[in-house]
Amino acid sequence: MVYKIARVAVVLGITYCTDSVLAQQHYGPQAAMEEAKRAVGMTPDPDRGRELYKICVVCHGPEGWGSSSGYYPQLAGQLAVVTIKQLADIRARNRDNPTMFPFSMPSVLGGAQEMADVAAYIAALPMSPLNDTGPGHDLELGRRVYERECAECHGDKAQGDAKEHIPLLLGQHYSYLKRQFAWIRFGKRRNADEKMVKQIQRFTGREVSAVMDYISRLRPPEGKTAPIGWRNPDFPDFSRHNLPAPMLLHEKPAYSPAAD
Ligand code: HEC
Ligand code: HEC
Repeated sequence: MVYKIARVAVVLGITYCTDSVLAQQHYGPQAAMEEAKRAVGMTPDPDRGRELYKICVVCHGPEGWGSSSGYYPQLAGQLAVVTIKQLADIRARNRDNPTMFPFSMPSVLGGAQEMADVAAYIAALPMSPLNDTGPGHDLELGRRVYERECAECHGDKAQGDAKEHIPLLLGQHYSYLKRQFAWIRFGKRRNADEKMVKQIQRFTGREVSAVMDYISRLRPPEGKTAPIGWRNPDFPDFSRHNLPAPMLLHEKPAYSPAAD
């Protein structure tokens, strides 16, 4: 009997190790898409989501607001299916993110269920009231470009579209939006939407800055933005003293990074 238990334990141990090694080595785009699809159909566990979000806090911040420099995106309020797809793409190296790659691995974050859990937690976080915005002098052009070229996919208020896993863009940091847009346009972000890539090739620099500025100033529906100074009560002991200044988003930064 003891022998049998020991044998089962050894077999389970070996299976577990091989599984996680395989998961790390052969996690290609196909596997990622399938895992994302499974994750979308799962019922998320909010408590587990909160636990898992501890992995993300050091970079994306306890509120999920990222950094106003745009190095770390705001995650709060993003549609769960979008977060799931991005996590899967990052894991599969279908979207390069060397900083975050190790933290997205199955051995750290877990599988489809865990992706669903953390994505649901993020979706429910209220958004930053003071994200990074652009210079504000070309907003009328920004609105026109947005309504003509982007709204059909990203929604009239840049709220995204869960069915098509199209990201919510409203209230995202201006500099992050500009970087992602440039990477999508020049093909560096390989997971991009082909139709979008084609559509945005002919944009001038002025149009890009204007539309991103406009999007960064769109506000979420009532109740989805945190009041100024809000701190996530799930992380009461998180020390912010070591965070770089731009991450302290409870106050408007003295200046926004240059537009170009
Ligand atoms: C070591 C730092 C680091 C950690 C830890 C980290 N991230 Fe990230 N994450 C980044 C950076 C940097 C980017 C932006 C990369 C880029 O510019 O494309 C990013 C981008 C993302 C994006 C894409 C957002 C978008 O709108 O395009 C998602 C989703 C994301 N992270 C989720 C998570 C989750 C969930 C966790 C925790 C399980 C996590 N991250 C942990 C650094 C990190
Ligand atoms: C044909 C549909 C379509 C059109 C038109 C479109 N997009 Fe997109 N966009 C997408 C999809 C789909 C994604 C997500 C791709 C992925 O899975 O990573 C995306 C991603 C993005 C991202 C990255 C968001 C993030 O959080 O990482 C930005 C920024 C963006 N779009 C801006 C724009 C702007 C600005 C316009 C108009 C000038 C536009 N898009 C037009 C479909 C579209």
